[in-house]
Amino acid sequence: MSSAASKPAHDWSAAQYLKFGNERTQPVRDLLARVPLQAPQRVVDLGCGPGNSTAVLQSRYPDAHLTGIDSSPDMIRQASSDMPHLQFTVEDLNSYVPSGPVDLFFSNAVFQWLRREDRIEVIKRLMETQPSGGVFALQVPDNLSEPSHVLMRETANAGPWAAKLASAGRDSFQTPQEIYDQLKPLCASVDMFHTSYYHSLENHEAIIEWVKGTGLRPFLDPLSAEEKQGYLREYLKRLAEKYPTCIDGRVLLPYPRLFVVAVKK
Ligand SMILES: C[S@@+](CC[C@H](N)C(=O)[O-])C[C@H]1O[C@@H](n2cnc3c(N)ncnc32)[C@H](O)[C@@H]1O
Repeated sequence: MSSAASKPAHDWSAAQYLKFGNERTQPVRDLLARVPLQAPQRVVDLGCGPGNSTAVLQSRYPDAHLTGIDSSPDMIRQASSDMPHLQFTVEDLNSYVPSGPVDLFFSNAVFQWLRREDRIEVIKRLMETQPSGGVFALQVPDNLSEPSHVLMRETANAGPWAAKLASAGRDSFQTPQEIYDQLKPLCASVDMFHTSYYHSLENHEAIIEWVKGTGLRPFLDPLSAEEKQGYLREYLKRLAEKYPTCIDGRVLLPYPRLFVVAVKK
């Protein structure tokens, strides 16, 4: 598929996502630090977004043939404009087929957006194309039980928009045990770890700005402009009740994430 596709009605917004670019890129650095490859020849950034994760991959592996794919035209537009020397294409992970063997598949904050029943199948299908010793590294947020996400659902249930938002949100991610049991038959090793970040944000409104770029999108996209305003007012009120204000007036947003580094047999 080409990078020139037009913007769909509910596309991601690279600009909104990059408001917290530095915080969102820290897990990329932490995941990459655990990838046991010195000089991979072919690297693909799956769900590369605006290219923030791809840029980190490029610094570590300047000699690799590096490409990025993402299903969002806006994200691919941003990545291609920032890194015109690399190849970025609009592709859906569910149907993506690599054009040759890939030493490293890297995916930061993407697989949670796939349907639960498709995630592991996509990973296994891609790993099957990798050479022995190839690595599949991914990170996903583990924040569905955090107040930020619980309150999205509570706010959805509590307003005149309840019917429209009845099925909004995303499926829970597989447990580490499920991931291990599914991937291990294909792998020499499946290493997993979990990290909680504590992001210091300016105020409660900043929590909304953060999740507007990601987890809140399925709750806002179906609403009219007026409903959006009402939803956000109610959500903000609930956030202020759950997240205390810090000594300096800021607010700490705890953010747990799960990391997986699988090495092909
Ligand atoms: C949270 S962003 C992650 C961006 C970047 N990898 C990073 O490290 O910050 C999630 C990205 O996954 C992409 N995405 C979601 N579902 C996808 C799919 N089925 N196929 C390809 N990309 C997908 C979105 O378009 C979005 O750019």
